[in-house]
Amino acid sequence: MNRPSLVRPSLFVLATAGLMAVLAPDAHAQAPAPGALVDALEGVFGKQAGFRRSGAKGVCATGFFVGTPEGRALTGSTLFSGQEIPAVVRFSVGGGSPKATDKGKSVRGLAMRVSNGKETWETSNITAPVFFVGKPENFVKFLEARRPDPATGRPDPAKVKAFNDSHPDAKPQIDYLAKAPVPASYATVNYWGTNAFEFSPPRGKKVFGKWMFEASRGTIGLTDDQLKSLPDNFLDAELRERVASHGVGFDFKVQLAEPGDKVDDPTVPLPESRKVVTAGRLVIAKVEPGAGGACDKITFNPLVLPKGVGASSDPVLLARPASYAVSLGRRLPDQK
Ligand code: HEM
Repeated sequence: MNRPSLVRPSLFVLATAGLMAVLAPDAHAQAPAPGALVDALEGVFGKQAGFRRSGAKGVCATGFFVGTPEGRALTGSTLFSGQEIPAVVRFSVGGGSPKATDKGKSVRGLAMRVSNGKETWETSNITAPVFFVGKPENFVKFLEARRPDPATGRPDPAKVKAFNDSHPDAKPQIDYLAKAPVPASYATVNYWGTNAFEFSPPRGKKVFGKWMFEASRGTIGLTDDQLKSLPDNFLDAELRERVASHGVGFDFKVQLAEPGDKVDDPTVPLPESRKVVTAGRLVIAKVEPGAGGACDKITFNPLVLPKGVGASSDPVLLARPASYAVSLGRRLPDQK
């Protein structure tokens, strides 16, 4: 149903990004401080003690990731060796409210950490092929426009419209989510990285790509009638039941960019005609009994990357890790 359209740093890359900021102040002059990005989320959703400031509602699972020969050829990483590498996975509902309805037309999230002791990879992905802003400063403006009006408890439609009219790059995600059905399950929807990464094959030239996790058994959305009959919370129980009875998996696909393609903007997908390689498969084996479990202390930092995978210059990607760390710092003291 959803057409697959696809797309790292260690401390070294973060240090390099810091150096670049010193060398090229103009390029980073407008990027908000990590705390300001998190403040913007709290401005809309409040300070939800103990919960992630984004993707607050969710469930933790475990399983494994298996790389394919194509994934190995693209990265040279031991995480793509073909062996089953243990994975911690968190599924979430978009936004910073732990009470968000599962029936909303917001994004769902799939975050994954795989580690074999030698290498670790963390990633978080959403159920839209594009993000809603191409620049971190617009992340703050997007959320400021959606702050609940104290008089109504709801966002002011005029402010939302004014933001949307003046930021046409938000439109592709808004349009996509308006048309996409509400997912019937965390397991029946595709998840996109939206940011581009640079792949360094052991043999061959470097290439940019965007990735996605494609639901192995296809996508299933809910009809309006089905939505009416469902409670606000069904995704957690549905996943438990599905993992126990059917098994749940995702194919990890990378769409490769060609020279000239835009690889520094998560609001712009790669052209549909670009080659796609299936680089791996994620299998969910067990859902943790409570809400948090092994996921609680992880931020799924999108710049903790396997060998052979590096960050692109996408400013949204580069702004993410520090704000995730701020959110972790604010939620951990309250986590039970
Ligand atoms: C400037 C851009 C962004 C900012 C400021 C931001 C901020 C955050 C923050 C503060 C958290 C909570 C982290 C924690 O407490 O552990 C979070 C979680 C998350 N973000 Fe982002 N984010 C951005 C872009 C993105 C993009 C581009 C994607 C994917 C396409 C994404 C997907 C997710 C997901 C799925 C989660 C929940 C992860 C989990 O289950 O732990 N975010 N984000």
